[in-house]
Amino acid sequence: MQAFNGKVNGAKIRMSKQQTEFIKTHLTKPIALIGMMGAGKSHTGAELARTLGLGFVDSDKMIEEKAGRPIADIFEEFGEEKFRESEHKTILELLQEAPKLIATGGGAVTNPVTLEALKAQSLMVWLNADVETLWQRVQKSQNRPLLKTENPREKLESLLEQRKPLYAQAHVMIEIQTANQNDDVEGLIKILYAYLNTDTV
Ligand code: S3P
Repeated sequence: MQAFNGKVNGAKIRMSKQQTEFIKTHLTKPIALIGMMGAGKSHTGAELARTLGLGFVDSDKMIEEKAGRPIADIFEEFGEEKFRESEHKTILELLQEAPKLIATGGGAVTNPVTLEALKAQSLMVWLNADVETLWQRVQKSQNRPLLKTENPREKLESLLEQRKPLYAQAHVMIEIQTANQNDDVEGLIKILYAYLNTDTV
């Protein structure tokens, strides 16, 4: 995995039109954002797609559309296993299409077949954040069924610990910024540019 430090070949770089154009022309696979709930996969992902002029798909939204119900209801009515089956199928479908940006659900990588497909068929980017940052962002959310427990912060922390080795299989990782999500978009442009400049995906 490549972790980005703001430099390419030792030189500090800034986001530029040239970088966004370079990314668009060198991208042969979809970009898939992975990481915990609250990391900003949907919000930052939509902004990044807009900046790059790429289509944007949120796998959770697609699952909701297919089922005609919100994620929380799918968990309640059919259980997590059925949700995971639908998530797996949805992500495999999305990977077949032209390069675009896919925001995956936080637990998508827990299915080993989905994880392998993401590794082989996408440029997988981990939005990494510490538990405190994630907790600040998700604590008021009503649509995270896995956090409907007695101690949701503890649950969040244990999910993060279990999943870290899975997320760490991404091609690139970025530490998300807490203050300004626009900084995350800028950081992502830089890391994608750096990665595509040195690797073929
Ligand atoms: C989940 C994360 C959610 C959603 C579902 C399960 C998880 O997506 O897919 O509630 O297992 O971490 P976000 O990561 O977009 O919140």
